[in-house]
Amino acid sequence: MLKRTILISLSLFLCCNMATAQKKTPLYLDDTQPLEDRVEDALARMTTEEKVALIHAQSKFSSPGVPRLGIPENWMSDGPHGIRAEVMWDEWYGANWTNDSCIAFPALTCLAASWDPALSKAYGVAIGEEARYRNKNVLLGPGVNIYRTPLNGRNFEYMGEDPFLASKMVVPYIHGVQQNGVAACVKHFAVNNQEEHRHGIDVVVSDRALHEIYLPAFKAAVHEGKAWAIMGAYNKYKGQYCCHNEFLLNDILKKDWGFDGVVVSDWGGTHDTNQAIKNGLDMEFGSWTDGLSWGASNAYDNYYLANPYLDLLKKGKVTDNELNDKVRRVLRLSFRTTMNKNRPWGSFGTEEHALVGRTIAQAGIVLLKNEKHTLPIDLNQHKKILVVGENATKSMTIGGGSSSLKVKYEVSPLEGIQHFVGNRGSVKFVEGYRSPAVREQDVEGAVDPESEFIDYVQLRQEAVEAARQADFVVFVGGLNKNPGQDCEGGDRSTMDLSYEQDALIDALVQANTNLAIVMISGNAYTMPWVKRVPAILQAWYGGTEAGNALAPILFGEVNPSGKLPFTFPAKLTDNGAHAIGEYPGENGRVEYKDDIFVGYRWTEKEKIKPLFAFGHGLSYTTFEYGKVHLTNNSMDIEGSLTASVTVKNTGSREGAEIVQLYIGEKKPKVSRPLKELKGFEKIHLQPNEEQTIFFTIDKNLLSFYDEEKQQWSVEPGKFELFIGAASDNILTKTSFTVKK
Ligand code: BGC
Repeated sequence: MLKRTILISLSLFLCCNMATAQKKTPLYLDDTQPLEDRVEDALARMTTEEKVALIHAQSKFSSPGVPRLGIPENWMSDGPHGIRAEVMWDEWYGANWTNDSCIAFPALTCLAASWDPALSKAYGVAIGEEARYRNKNVLLGPGVNIYRTPLNGRNFEYMGEDPFLASKMVVPYIHGVQQNGVAACVKHFAVNNQEEHRHGIDVVVSDRALHEIYLPAFKAAVHEGKAWAIMGAYNKYKGQYCCHNEFLLNDILKKDWGFDGVVVSDWGGTHDTNQAIKNGLDMEFGSWTDGLSWGASNAYDNYYLANPYLDLLKKGKVTDNELNDKVRRVLRLSFRTTMNKNRPWGSFGTEEHALVGRTIAQAGIVLLKNEKHTLPIDLNQHKKILVVGENATKSMTIGGGSSSLKVKYEVSPLEGIQHFVGNRGSVKFVEGYRSPAVREQDVEGAVDPESEFIDYVQLRQEAVEAARQADFVVFVGGLNKNPGQDCEGGDRSTMDLSYEQDALIDALVQANTNLAIVMISGNAYTMPWVKRVPAILQAWYGGTEAGNALAPILFGEVNPSGKLPFTFPAKLTDNGAHAIGEYPGENGRVEYKDDIFVGYRWTEKEKIKPLFAFGHGLSYTTFEYGKVHLTNNSMDIEGSLTASVTVKNTGSREGAEIVQLYIGEKKPKVSRPLKELKGFEKIHLQPNEEQTIFFTIDKNLLSFYDEEKQQWSVEPGKFELFIGAASDNILTKTSFTVKK
């Protein structure tokens, strides 16, 4: 009897197993099938409840998948400079994991200042690997909002003031991230150019400025970068919140640009169920929060795209057309990321990533001024080095809002200098100034610290005395990531430096003229002392390897090669937005009356001499530009021509130069900038080496957005072509005609 039972069980077992083996893999799980067929198959298997669950958060940074169908959860992470530490399921403070300390990469302003798309790719690959290892399938970055005002607290997370530069730099970043099976979520779409009143301000901007200045980098991210996700902005456009905005999301992004990925809300950027249904939002995150500091537990079922949506569907008040579109997009995201069986495994906190970060940090450092060869510091001559300034030691990977990071390690400028100098000299540090302590992000129970009294006069005196004894003084200051500096959630109240740094710099240069000013910031600031100091380096937020990137430049082992991705106006009112008083807006509305004249487009139109112009950056070597040659002096609208120029390193050491091409229309029918960046190339040259660079010019580089026709258009006529080392340092120019 027992034998028989065993036999029957065995045959039943075999039989069932064979049946399972023969059962076909469902189409949506078969990655040999076309993506859209898999999407339709998965969609057809889902209940309405499952669909609604898929499109809103279940925790601060995750949304559920479809467990019944084996479709995994989606996990998002900030972005854009490293993979943020884990926070609690339902709270903003840190979860205290011990395995989530990342590599911090340089801030995106620094990446933009490298003007090197290959480095942007390397950045994307490395941060994508970090995201993948941490099991995040969406990286909340990169950010490409245009630098309109130096007061914007988030400029450091973006790629500068020029749409062409930002477009060229954002695309490889996205490719790099996404080759890891991690979606880049490009943010914040769109016209989120100030933090002040960000949660409700209605941005009024002309169609021209929108298309010529504020949208191109997003468009490049979609068309060339093939970004799989995009994040809506907090602010409004045409009176509607950008996270559910029919003009931006339905008309431009999805219809005109053909975006097939997901629109993710910014955290707390959703405000209305009906608009969220109709106006292009696909995934809702962070509702009931202001994006940073408060939240309501277990609110997820009440999200605008949760039960309220389900109710409308059940009552037949909305059809499931919009729902299916949203779900299709989220399914595409899953198939491209979590369900891509071939995606790599990623890696986290590695030496390779740190090195990528260091290379980028170094390539982005800009030598703004260098009189009498003050830099590099010659250690044979200057043995006693004094480092002054809080930014020489302050952690710059922490703070700044959602991009704040918990890092594996961070080399400060002081440590970098100490490592570099070793026993070849002595390095002394004095504070010189100090910023008040602030509440730390992501820390449970953190409270605002008591305001402490800081005796700036005393700190300054100590620094001056030490400066008198030193052979060379390196001042490291600038902004930091404290609220009101370079920090999300608010703008700077002034363009001036804080903490009495101006007085300190003045005192230091009086005490010792062997002085280099190193500024850490993601924004421009005023420099009342600019004429008195001999050398200035703009060093940005360099990430984990900041100090190791800086020191070799200070001492000349590495030649600086970055160029400014935005204008440094001498004063705030030299900036277009401030000159016409259209910042930060009033009564919930800000009108961009500066229109297309942002950054250098404004200073050139108004003939204002900036402190340092867009594209400016010096080197320890010298370059000579030959004459520009054109293949033809005229072209048909549909044709093209090529400009070439030869650049030679005429100094005694190797170096890199960023050759910039600008074009301006001579007598445009609409008002146009005198010239606009339309090409650039970073070249590395040995002494005496020369290289010829070619730029192809076609109608895409000559057109403007015609508001009457609502499309890009080129006028026949005369154009001027400029090639140079900066927007204010044109070294060769010519002109050509465009024929009908
Ligand atoms: C920021 C986003 C960020 C999100 C999640 C928001 O406050 O605006 O850039 O990705 O929070 O942290």
